[in-house]
Amino acid sequence: MIEQTLILIKPDGLKKSLTGNILTRLSETKLKIVGAKVIRVSRELAEKHYAHLKGKPFFEELIKYLTGELHQTPRVLAMVYEGEEAIAKVKKLAGATNPEEAEPTSIRGAYGRILTSGIFENAIHASSGLREAEGEIKLWFKPEELVSHLYPVEEAVKEKIKELIWA
Ligand code: CMP
Repeated sequence: MIEQTLILIKPDGLKKSLTGNILTRLSETKLKIVGAKVIRVSRELAEKHYAHLKGKPFFEELIKYLTGELHQTPRVLAMVYEGEEAIAKVKKLAGATNPEEAEPTSIRGAYGRILTSGIFENAIHASSGLREAEGEIKLWFKPEELVSHLYPVEEAVKEKIKELIWA
């Protein structure tokens, strides 16, 4: 089945200049990249992304991780990859969430570590299932930012939206 999956290169990945290496590994999957952007992640976006982990003892630290506060690197590279079994393919390449349990040759096995605070610093996030992928893609991307749509879109006229334009 053709799927789309959300991949985030998290602030530790950017701080350690791992972007190129991770993209090279992702190209092994032969999947197609259909959207990409660098984002300064707000607390609100981080909380929405990790809403299912609210209540965990590491939640507050996790929010600081994704917003970049933890690494003084407020940047995340968000991407959507598309193709046959995209979710499983990227999950396999990413490796287990816990870097100590991840295959040594997986992205998290190679680049992840456990911080003394207990947080798994694992360089990337990848959608874990079909439902998660849909929610995450819709949370991180607008339809116009993707060159291919798996989920229905509609046209809407929006007025009085404040946005930055070139001066
Ligand atoms: P990610 O794939 O982005 O999804 C949730 C994140 O929370 C995960 O990567 C880790 O960074 C972190 N995480 C998940 N479970 C734990 C845990 N048990 N202890 C510490 N950090 C965790």
